[in-house]
Amino acid sequence: MDFSNQVILVTGAARGIGRAIARSFASLGGSVAMHYHTSRQQAEALAQSLPGGKHAAFHADISKPEDCQKLISEIERHYGRLDVLVNNAGIYELKALKSLDYTGWQAAWKRTLDANLTGPANLCFLAAQVMMRQNGGHIINISSRGAFRGEPEALAYGAAKAGLNQLSQSLAWALAPYKIFVGVVAPGFVATGMTAELLDGPQGGAIRAQSPLNRAGTPEEVAQAVVRLSAPGMLYATGCILDVNGASYLRS
Ligand SMILES: NC(=O)c1ccc[n+]([C@@H]2O[C@H](COP(=O)([O-])OP(=O)(O)OC[C@H]3O[C@@H](n4cnc5c(N)ncnc54)[C@H](OP(=O)(O)O)[C@@H]3O)[C@@H](O)[C@H]2O)c1
Repeated sequence: MDFSNQVILVTGAARGIGRAIARSFASLGGSVAMHYHTSRQQAEALAQSLPGGKHAAFHADISKPEDCQKLISEIERHYGRLDVLVNNAGIYELKALKSLDYTGWQAAWKRTLDANLTGPANLCFLAAQVMMRQNGGHIINISSRGAFRGEPEALAYGAAKAGLNQLSQSLAWALAPYKIFVGVVAPGFVATGMTAELLDGPQGGAIRAQSPLNRAGTPEEVAQAVVRLSAPGMLYATGCILDVNGASYLRS
């Protein structure tokens, strides 16, 4: 795999899974646009430290439609093209139903849907405009096992990720005439800041035991899946949802 001369936008590239994805593309020669929201220093340091192409850090709150537009415009201005969009940034809020009043429920729903579905959808739309002009590109959306298995304590999260799966599959169909690949990677538990409290807490052992490998996934394992789907020769797999969950939830 060689991503030389390709521009890859990774959202949420400063930490966790996004950081591993950015590193993987850079190690394969790609120029990585490292998006960050609050982790500016980490994103800028990563952009400077990685080998490969021309890397740079870009700010956006993806839950704001105007920030999404600014982000894609800045990348087009900076690089003149966009070959791969990886919608990785997201939030995970554990909220037991019984702990919420109606106002709290609505606020939690809106925060999660804005960050995990509307933001990525806006970026898909905007990136697709660039890729349609180029007559090619890859969009990889990071969903979750929770979209299939259910998220009883993070209802908005499960709903947003299920929506992202469906959006990706409809987009795969709509964008196929332009040779734009749209796929999904759906991880199970991965050891990052998002899950540290759960994995380090009393239920950590039971979570690891959900997989017959008896462990959580690593950000690098998710990055491998993203890079492979983005490689040339994968166009006929467009619309796929690739599970990376250590066989902790099997579907056929
Ligand atoms: N970890 C898991 O077990 C797991 C499992 C299934 C799916 N996933 C999915 O994988 C993706 C990455 O998760 P992770 O575990 O790496 O999470 P993480 O370590 O908590 O990182 C989350 C990233 O999202 C960015 N972000 C959050 N809200 C944002 C906003 N409003 N605008 C822009 N960026 C925002 C953060 O940027 P800043 O740091 O710059 O603020 C950060 O880079 C998410 O979509 C998550 O749902 C994770």
